[in-house]
Amino acid sequence: MLVSLSSILKAARKGRYAVGAFNCLSLEQARGAVAAAVQLRSPLILQVAEVQFPCAPMELIAPVFLRLAVDAPVPVCVHLDHGQSVETCLRAMELGFNSVMFDGAALPFEENVRKTKEVVRAARVCGVDVEAELGRVGDAGTDDEGRQNADIFTDPAQAEAFISATGADALAIAIGNLHGKYIATPKLNIDRLREIAGRIATPLVLHGGSGTSIEDFKACVHNGICKINVATALQIAAAEAVYGGEKTDYIGMKNTIEEATRKAVSWHMDLFESVGKA
Ligand code: 13P
Repeated sequence: MLVSLSSILKAARKGRYAVGAFNCLSLEQARGAVAAAVQLRSPLILQVAEVQFPCAPMELIAPVFLRLAVDAPVPVCVHLDHGQSVETCLRAMELGFNSVMFDGAALPFEENVRKTKEVVRAARVCGVDVEAELGRVGDAGTDDEGRQNADIFTDPAQAEAFISATGADALAIAIGNLHGKYIATPKLNIDRLREIAGRIATPLVLHGGSGTSIEDFKACVHNGICKINVATALQIAAAEAVYGGEKTDYIGMKNTIEEATRKAVSWHMDLFESVGKA
């Protein structure tokens, strides 16, 4: 069933567990994620990020996510991950996403507050929930400083001010986490997480789940993180399974399938003499 982010995360915060938010770029990934949720009787968040639209346009993937959610016997939320503009968030709401993230983390604080508020205002009208981000979650491929540099970690006092100003339903925080494939296992700042969780009741979100140590995952789950985003680990698992562990490039694999299909369909169309008849 399609269930709101707020109700899934409130239950998680109360029960001291976290719900996985899995970036799915295909029917296969989404069905695999739902199959796991059904088998394990776990709530689930299906999501796609704006940077992933070239590979999985939200107009195409939204109906897949929504149908799977409605049909599932467990709570499933359909979430836009890292919406980069207010407009993208509005478009996602129109398409039926019942939760959106506006990522204003790179903006100055006041602008992040202003734009997040704009998204929250529209979302309230549509019955949609909003995740926001404060502090900087870096990229594992390009960014080394994110791991240790406390200056870019989410500031607990700012987090409190941000939530009271915006009314966001979930907050993504930076505690040394990075997106993508880590070169070395990061060490998350759990003290910082505790400080933030001590100040706000809003469910907290950990981005960059792939490559986190089991110890840090557990510490996050038990100290206020209610939503954990995982993308890269799923892509690596799928590509490794197909290529027998030799390759990890899921998007390359998807593109290869698409191109091979285009060629095979073209060959048949030519043979059937339908070319130029559209
Ligand atoms: P990973 O690719 O590191 O798992 O990050 C996922 C994520 O945070 C999506 O928003």
